[in-house]
Amino acid sequence: MTDSTQSPTREHAPHTAPPVPATMRSAFYEGYGAPEDVVTVRTVPTPKPAPGEVLVKVRAASVNALDWHYVTGLPMFARPSLGLRRPKRQVPGADAAGEVVAIGEGVTRHRIGDEVFADIDGGGFAEYALAPQDGWIPIPDGVSFEQATTLGVAAETALQGLRDWGNLQQGQRVLIAGASGGVGSFAVRLAKLLGASHVTAVCSTRNVDAALAGGADRVVDYTREDVRALGDRFDVFFDNAGTLPLRQCRKLLVKGGTYVSITAPKTKWVKPLPRMLSVPLYFALTGKKAPAFKVASRSATDLAWLVEQVAAGRLEPLIERRWSLEEAPEILRRQGEFHAQGKSLVIP
Ligand SMILES: NC(=O)c1ccc[n+]([C@@H]2O[C@H](COP(=O)([O-])OP(=O)(O)OC[C@H]3O[C@@H](n4cnc5c(N)ncnc54)[C@H](OP(=O)(O)O)[C@@H]3O)[C@@H](O)[C@H]2O)c1
Repeated sequence: MTDSTQSPTREHAPHTAPPVPATMRSAFYEGYGAPEDVVTVRTVPTPKPAPGEVLVKVRAASVNALDWHYVTGLPMFARPSLGLRRPKRQVPGADAAGEVVAIGEGVTRHRIGDEVFADIDGGGFAEYALAPQDGWIPIPDGVSFEQATTLGVAAETALQGLRDWGNLQQGQRVLIAGASGGVGSFAVRLAKLLGASHVTAVCSTRNVDAALAGGADRVVDYTREDVRALGDRFDVFFDNAGTLPLRQCRKLLVKGGTYVSITAPKTKWVKPLPRMLSVPLYFALTGKKAPAFKVASRSATDLAWLVEQVAAGRLEPLIERRWSLEEAPEILRRQGEFHAQGKSLVIP
């Protein structure tokens, strides 16, 4: 069931925190596999902050495709970065928001009771999450924990993809394929916020209204229409689906236009690697641009900018549904279907 109600603004936390218990509930996996087979929720020791680290009581975490990749270890070609024989991360959850409850020696940026969010190296699907102090970004007044935790991997990817890789300029026309999931829903909103004059969003029937509500000027339902039949050309094509042949992606751009590829359909072993590698070749000597495939990088500056946009009312994340920690295996399984509607949250 979809719960699309607006997330409530959080209340101010006191500057003292209740004592941190010795154990906590946490999602956990030790080997690769289907989320429903390998992810369990168990009681584990609560981590203690080392020098420079900050421990946060997690109030909301958000789910990303990245979590599914870490749990399944797929596609296999990505194993060197996911962990060759065993997953490098054992607690899912790359985005977390909550209150600071303990700080390590030398921490100067945060105090007990501060409300913060971060894009972390896993660990969000737990009652407490640990990360270096520089990773945690203060949550401004008027922004909920739920809103803040949507702003990690997905929003950073959409922002860096449009602004840095796509070099989106004011007044340009943008095409966004895969416009309704975690990355895509942010891409629609951020394209408008960065000054696009017109945004065409491609998604399936059930997401058409949400894409329009997110600011798209036109929505193409890919189950009924073909974006190639519009006869339109775009300055930036942000491709969060990777389902069209590259030759045809090229034709959807004006001269000088830019194709930004962030994903493509996957198989167990190598896809989408061949497509990722061939993107720049397809656009060479065409007068159109396509940067080599990139992975978004963690950026405290970008996270601070994104949360400011939310605080100012210029960016409203699309929250699909809240799940309990015990439901972590199921939400991870569903994320692997790649048909999310905006962002889903885990509330420990
Ligand atoms: N390069 C990077 O740095 C980076 C960063 C983050 C994510 N990614 C990758 O980007 C992808 C999307 O991530 P996400 O978190 O946004 O996933 P998601 O929330 O599951 O969204 C998937 C999106 O793809 C759309 N889609 C699925 N099949 C489609 C088709 N045949 N034609 C057009 N659209 C289709 C879905 O729309 P419908 O449900 O309407 O079909 C949905 O909008 C993942 O593969 C992820 O691994 C890459």
